[in-house]
Amino acid sequence: MAVGIFDSGIGGLTVYKTVNKNYPEMDIHYLGDTARVPYGNRSPETIIRYSLECTSFLVSNFHIDTVIVACNTASSYAIEHIRKKFGINVIGVVEPGAKRAIEVTNGYIGVIGTIATVRSESYVKAVKELNKNIKISQIACPLFVPIVEEMLVDTEIARSAVHHYMDSLVNDGVDTIILGCTHYPFLKNTINSIYPDLKIVDSSEAILEYLEKINLNKCQSGKREIYLTDEAPAFETLKTVLTDGIISQKITL
Ligand code: DGL
Repeated sequence: MAVGIFDSGIGGLTVYKTVNKNYPEMDIHYLGDTARVPYGNRSPETIIRYSLECTSFLVSNFHIDTVIVACNTASSYAIEHIRKKFGINVIGVVEPGAKRAIEVTNGYIGVIGTIATVRSESYVKAVKELNKNIKISQIACPLFVPIVEEMLVDTEIARSAVHHYMDSLVNDGVDTIILGCTHYPFLKNTINSIYPDLKIVDSSEAILEYLEKINLNKCQSGKREIYLTDEAPAFETLKTVLTDGIISQKITL
């Protein structure tokens, strides 16, 4: 049995990177739905349908017993639907990110994500479920994804966008920020340089604790496969930042 990871595109390579590094012997199959990205401004019905189709591809081709939903938007809407339909282990990024934030915050958490993730209030619900006394505010940052894909991180454009979206949250007293989108870890340095006191929670790293709870079969051949549903111009750039020697294959869902 192997692990499948899917994302709306290539941003989920941030999650892939975490799993890749910590489970070198495990077989990992990554699917990036680059033909239909972004999910972040689509309706709940469409996000759920796309997520089920991505999982179906991974289950039927690789007999995976665990799927990691790297996409925050898909995690916000589709986790229970996937669990119900496929009966496999499903790990999303929202709950781990919320839990980590609660562990480090002084009492006021901010969440940044896509329009759909913010609209779902998934992080707000996850935080409140764990600790209802924590204050939480959120804001959608739709410009961050294209900034990362154009590799404009650590530029004036990125800094302006960070100020534009996040100044109000930080001025309001947020002490911890959850990077609630696959792409945002690429902006960590920029965010940190503008708000050095802000604690940054990376949901793509927070999943590790959850993976450890599942009895994953680590003794495999360490196979790594990346499938994309369409060409992705940013893939070559992001790939070199994150991983070595990966073969990408184009498939149709
Ligand atoms: N992967 C998405 C997420 O983490 C960002 C890109 C998109 O909108 O599809 O929410």
